[in-house]
Amino acid sequence: MERTFLMIKPDGVQRNLIGNIISRFEQKGYKLVGMKLMHISRALAEKHYAEHVGKSFFEGTVSYITSSPVVAMVWAGNNVVAGARDMLGATNPNNATPGSIRGTYGLDISRNVIHGSDSTTSAEREISLYFTPEELVDYSKNVDAWLVE
Ligand code: CDP
Ligand code: MG
Repeated sequence: MERTFLMIKPDGVQRNLIGNIISRFEQKGYKLVGMKLMHISRALAEKHYAEHVGKSFFEGTVSYITSSPVVAMVWAGNNVVAGARDMLGATNPNNATPGSIRGTYGLDISRNVIHGSDSTTSAEREISLYFTPEELVDYSKNVDAWLVE
């Protein structure tokens, strides 16, 4: 089953949005297969945002993401990478559709509440940065048959 890496950023944790955000993905039908509350080190943040090294927002983004704990998660389900990105909304909350997470909770591109992998390749890379294989839980749920034919 397809997997993605989602992370509630420091602003989401500080603003008490953990429960609301997790609830959205649960209600959609995705399955939580890994989760941890953690304080990201600078080294991990630099690996996570390696594609943005040298850009004007790189330093600010690394300081933001390491400023307070985050909730790192792996979610699984049909088309979860693209589906979750749609649920996040555009990178800039001011351009995000109102019902999306960033559109609902954000005001500023540098405080956009949540991260989500942008492709299946990024998802596998990011999952391996944050989780060991043993930390991911493989299980079935009774609702599975009601979610996908
Ligand atoms: O997170 P997403 O994949 O939607 O966007 P990105 O282009 O990969 O940028 C990564 C993160 O850098 C964003 O989520 C923002 O937190 C931050 N960023 C920023 O602060 N200012 C920008 N102009 C672009 C990105
Ligand atoms: Mg990105």
